[in-house]
Amino acid sequence: MISQTGSQVTTMTTTDKYAVFGNPIKHSKSPQIHSAFAKQTQQQLSYRAHRVDEGKFADAARSFFDNGGRGLNITVPFKIDAFHFADELSGRARRAGAVNTLALQEDGRIYGDNTDGAGLVGDIVFNNKEALKDKRILVVGAGGAVRGILQPFLEQQPDSITLVNRTFEKAQALAENFKGYGNIKACRFEDLRQPFDVIINGTSASLNGQLPPIPECVVTKNTFVYDMMYAKEPTTFLKWAKQNGANKTVDGMGMLVGQAAVSFELWRQQKPDSETVLQGMRKKLQE
Ligand code: ATR
Repeated sequence: MISQTGSQVTTMTTTDKYAVFGNPIKHSKSPQIHSAFAKQTQQQLSYRAHRVDEGKFADAARSFFDNGGRGLNITVPFKIDAFHFADELSGRARRAGAVNTLALQEDGRIYGDNTDGAGLVGDIVFNNKEALKDKRILVVGAGGAVRGILQPFLEQQPDSITLVNRTFEKAQALAENFKGYGNIKACRFEDLRQPFDVIINGTSASLNGQLPPIPECVVTKNTFVYDMMYAKEPTTFLKWAKQNGANKTVDGMGMLVGQAAVSFELWRQQKPDSETVLQGMRKKLQE
């Protein structure tokens, strides 16, 4: 930017502003991840975490963009508010009914996307080399986290997705919503009788150290088990899977870094190397 003060001409560099909005937000790793991506790709930008009061999302987002903000990530509990805030939506955001990324476009309109599913699929398929094509997949949970991942999963052309949830009706409604994209059906925990190739825990039960009422018969030594949550120690769900013979269990840190990488690429048109950042994050978590 060139600014002229009297006869003096000075050159100023502007730093593009990005942020994550959520509540709570204190423990967000997004600033750390995006700073690492920026350093890696030699981009000058700032990325901050903001706690937004419930009911105030639209005001806060409007003010952020009015004051030079270029892009936002959105986390719990504002992904549906962000969906309504966006002027335009990607197909996957529209079908998820939730937005985790907002980007200011050249015409001033705000574009909303949902990068959660792409982050998860990327972590499974590329980082963990686990193909989803033709696999029998069990997805546990039917809340906001699961809603965002179903279309990208179905695009991988699995044999089937079975959705199981404590409140069966929610699984049923979601399966109905996505049935146009592939073979997806809802099920009750007590009706699960067969093993699966891939199991994804998308419930928030691990947050409270709880386990959904899932029968052991769904796991064999060939089952790949993924928990969308992560913690310093393996989650309750992953411990249960190991105890029941699963040979590969993976937590959701790769999904977190992966969804951030897809957001970063949308904003900056540069693909960061998310695997290096993930390794650094894992090391830090153990410190
Ligand atoms: P999120 O946006 O994180 O998905 P959510 O929409 O509140 O949060 O959904 C939480 C999910 O975890 C739901 O599928 C919930 O099951 P219900 O729909 O029956 O409430 C599931 N969940 C949370 N705690 C659970 C537990 N202890 N056992 C089984 N399922 C649980």
